Amino acid sequence: MTEASRKVRPLGSTGLLAAFGRALSRPLFRNALTRYALMALAAAGIMIAALAPLASIVVESWSQRDIELRSRLVFRSIRDQVAMGIVVKPDFDLIRFFERLAEDERILALGFCSEQGQLRYATKQFPKSITCGSVKRDKTDTFVTARDAGRRVHVSTFPITAGATTGHLLVLHDLSYIDERTGEASLYSVFALIGVAAGLGLLSSAIVLALLRAWTRSIRRAILDTTTPEVNRSDFPISREVHAALTEVRLERRFVSGIHVEWSPKTLQRLLADELPSTEVMVVSNREPYIHNRTADGTRLQIPASGLVAALEPIMRACGGTWIAHGSGSADRENVDADDRLRVPPADPAYTLRRVWLSEEEQAGYYYGLANEGLWPLCHIAFVRPTFREEDWAQYRAVNERFADVIVQEAASEDPIILVQDYHFALLPRMIRERLPKATIITFWHIPWPNAEAFGICPWRDQIIDGLLGSTILGFHTQFHCNNFIDSTDRYMETRIDREHASVTLGGHETLIRPYPISIEWPPAALASQAPVKDCRDAVKERFSLPDGARIGVGIERFDYTKGILDRIRAVDDLLTRHPEWKGKFVFIQAAAPTRSKLGAYSSLQGDAESLVAEVNARHAVDGIVPIRLVVRHHEPDEVYELFRAADLCVVSSLHDGMNLVAKEFVAARDDDQGVLLLSNFAGASRELSEALIVNPYDTHGMAEALDRALRMPADQQRDRMRLMRDLVRQRNVYRWAAQMLLDAAHVRRRNRIMASD
Ligand code: G6P
Repeated sequence: MTEASRKVRPLGSTGLLAAFGRALSRPLFRNALTRYALMALAAAGIMIAALAPLASIVVESWSQRDIELRSRLVFRSIRDQVAMGIVVKPDFDLIRFFERLAEDERILALGFCSEQGQLRYATKQFPKSITCGSVKRDKTDTFVTARDAGRRVHVSTFPITAGATTGHLLVLHDLSYIDERTGEASLYSVFALIGVAAGLGLLSSAIVLALLRAWTRSIRRAILDTTTPEVNRSDFPISREVHAALTEVRLERRFVSGIHVEWSPKTLQRLLADELPSTEVMVVSNREPYIHNRTADGTRLQIPASGLVAALEPIMRACGGTWIAHGSGSADRENVDADDRLRVPPADPAYTLRRVWLSEEEQAGYYYGLANEGLWPLCHIAFVRPTFREEDWAQYRAVNERFADVIVQEAASEDPIILVQDYHFALLPRMIRERLPKATIITFWHIPWPNAEAFGICPWRDQIIDGLLGSTILGFHTQFHCNNFIDSTDRYMETRIDREHASVTLGGHETLIRPYPISIEWPPAALASQAPVKDCRDAVKERFSLPDGARIGVGIERFDYTKGILDRIRAVDDLLTRHPEWKGKFVFIQAAAPTRSKLGAYSSLQGDAESLVAEVNARHAVDGIVPIRLVVRHHEPDEVYELFRAADLCVVSSLHDGMNLVAKEFVAARDDDQGVLLLSNFAGASRELSEALIVNPYDTHGMAEALDRALRMPADQQRDRMRLMRDLVRQRNVYRWAAQMLLDAAHVRRRNRIMASD
């Protein structure tokens, strides 16, 4: 006997009520029983509607027959006296005789119709409306029902012969009592039917309940079956069927969510309502989606240059909830309520932003230090040495604790879904798990995860892996990075790794490791206000004083050493050296937003880029037209999209990148199906956008040749490539990214609930 089958308890009669109560507390039973009760009620209603008139008909026909019999009996017993009264003894008072008979409460009246059709000897109660002419007078007995003053009257007519006189005796019965009887009969039959239906209903509910319990047990086993391969399926014959059905449904769902569903805010909202009803959604990230900055012209609202923000903001607009983040703007404190909250987007509020304040020391240690001088270079292969300092680690831990406390403060339920973002919060999942054990924690690591050996140089590698394994689900952009994480766990931690199901179990808690390629909203909000492509080109040409026929290349990102900005400038240099025909005709606009400028690696990059641009421009300028325009400032989404639309090509030459959303934004901006994307082989996006010209940023000459190829690419080839890429970004948009994670979370929550109730 297996463990599961041992737990099956027989449904004893004493336990029936308790079982009923328990069952009713479960939605599956509640729904099934409600449906079943409604069906039983409907069936009982139909039965009552059909049987109640039948009872009246039966009572009516019985009563009629009874009256006919009685009338005949009366007639036979008085026939001789009546004949005598008419003929033999003319002094016999026939009327008085009739009156005496009519004292019987059922007999209404009696009368005699002569052959000539005259009513004679009628009792006083004889209704005026009933005349000899109105009744049938045959040679045989006849029975009819007539109406008099709204009541029904039964008229029995018997032929009678007295000597030479012939005529008919009329016996009248009042039928009102039959109406009363049929009414009562219908009422009693309804009561009886209700009683029978209720009895049957109770009996069959008990049977259905027992069956449902057996099925649920079966389904539970089937679900366990799919996650616990060692369970012997042959022990559960019903499980096998349910298991097959579940697998089919799951495959179907994967199919639907993967290919057919056009993911949008609406479908995402529907998913939340269907799969995670009334579930609280919270996001935690370091970077906030809206920054209030003080400027000379007053407070300015800024949307930061961050792929994380670009992806999550539309999700929060669709789902609502609370986003907890560091309040980093100089005017942030003046724009929150007493609880440090504000509703955003300010123009059309859809969710709450909760700002967390960090001191200079905290920022220096947690953000600049451990996160951006330690983990960022550790995870990106860009050959910048990671720096790990004990004091940074202490601040990192303390700030993670601060955020864990704020999450508990903000959580309105004990089991919210918490979306923890990025390498700033590696310790947070474990800290949340300790405070809110029932929470569903989905952690997304937006940057690459290095191989086990490289990760091993981090002095706190064990604590970081342990922190992340507090998550319910841990997501990366690519399968490759998932594998790197599992390998690192394997190498440094005592855990149970299930490679088939891609999960890691530590201290009895299982974390699923899943790839979720991030994306952008579709269609992008910034596209709505864009002018036609030609107008964008004209506007950009005018702004940069470009000659009429100039071909335009763009690169737009944060000024980060992982982005390969120097490498692409070198590639432009190489292009103009080997293909001087492009001089004065090709201009590359590099928009770069200053970022993390307090760190040496970033400030020196800006200096290096500026001198390299100056050098290349000096080398290739023709008639005052310089080939590279470097614009170092933050660009709002509208400006970014205008540049994308104005360009002939866009270069994304990251030395290493988790995904890179600039590549997807360029594709989304080109609703004219034109433009060429040069995309680094080391950006996660290259796994999806294979119609781009894939380049190796370390290969300057190769990149220069790709630039030349892009500039010469015929329009129809550009269109074919762009269409395929646009289709992919449209289908695999950011709503799908969120939907995949939320569907997986819903699945885990359901499974945990089933296991907990077993
Ligand atoms: C990357 C990180 C994000 C970060 C963004 C901008 O995309 O994955 O977490 O927000 O860079 O960097 P910043 O330091 O300015 O937030």
